[in-house]
Amino acid sequence: MAISIKSAEEIELMRIAGKLASEVLLMIEPHVQAGISTQKLNDICHDYIVNSQDAIPAPLNYHGFPRSICTSVNHQVCHGIPGDRILKHGDMVNIDITIIKDEFHGDTSKMFTVGGPHAKSQRLIDITYQAMVIGIQQIKPGITLGDIGHSIQTFVEKNNFSVVREYCGHGIGRVFHEEPQVLHYGKPNSGVVLEEGMTLTIEPMVNAGKRHVRLLPDQWTVVTKDHSLSAQWEHTILVTTDGFEVLTLRPEESI
Ligand code: MF3
Ligand code: CO
Ligand code: CO
Repeated sequence: MAISIKSAEEIELMRIAGKLASEVLLMIEPHVQAGISTQKLNDICHDYIVNSQDAIPAPLNYHGFPRSICTSVNHQVCHGIPGDRILKHGDMVNIDITIIKDEFHGDTSKMFTVGGPHAKSQRLIDITYQAMVIGIQQIKPGITLGDIGHSIQTFVEKNNFSVVREYCGHGIGRVFHEEPQVLHYGKPNSGVVLEEGMTLTIEPMVNAGKRHVRLLPDQWTVVTKDHSLSAQWEHTILVTTDGFEVLTLRPEESI
C-alpha cells in the first residue's frame, strides 16, 4: 500500500478527529491524581469519547487490546493496559488517546506527573517533549523521514537518554496505523520524502537508561529492560504546503 495523500475534505475530517483526541487529554487532566486507578481513567475517557464526543475509542479491541486508552506508568514504555493499579505521589504516567470520528483517526499522548513534578522524572519528560517538537518542526514537503529520526535521536542522545527502536510513529487516516513507519532514529536524507497532504504521528519513546525494552506476559505492556523510567509524547501532524499543522495541539502548547 502506498502512502495516502489526504484530500481537502479528508484533511477537514482529520482536523476534527485530531481536535477531539486533544480534548480528551484536556478533560482527563484534573482526574490524574494520587489515589485514582488507571481503570477509572480509562472508564472516564471511554464515557467521554462515546457519550460526549459521539466518537469511537480506537484502541478497544484493536488487535485484541482490551481497553479504550493506554496508560503507561513509570518504567512502562507504551501500551500499558488500564487496570487496578492506583497512581501514587511521585508516579508519572503517559495517557495515549486515539479516537475515530467519521472514519478518521486522531492520535495523541501526554505525560502527567502525579502529585506535582519530581526532579527525577521531570528532566526526562521535558527532554522527550523537546525531542518530539524538534522532530515536528522539521516537517515540510521535501524533507525525509530519516531527517526527522536523526534530529530526534541526536537530541536525545546528547542529553544522555536513549530512543526506543522497536516502536515508532506512523501514517494515520482512515486506518489507525498506515504507512509509513516513522522511526525516531535514523540517518539524514534517507527514507520516504514527505509530501503535502500526508498525515503522520511523531511519538518518541525515550528511556532514562538503556534503549532496550521487554514485553510483559500480558502481551501488550512494553517496559524498559533495565527498569529505568520511560517517557513519551505524541501528536498527529499534517504536512502542509510549506510546513506542518499539529492536528492534536492543545491550548497550552505552541509548536
Ligand atoms: N495509540 C498507540 C499509538 O500511538 C497505539 C495503541 S494500540 C493499542 O500508535 F492497541 F495498544 F491500543
Ligand atoms: Co500513534
Ligand atoms: Co497513540
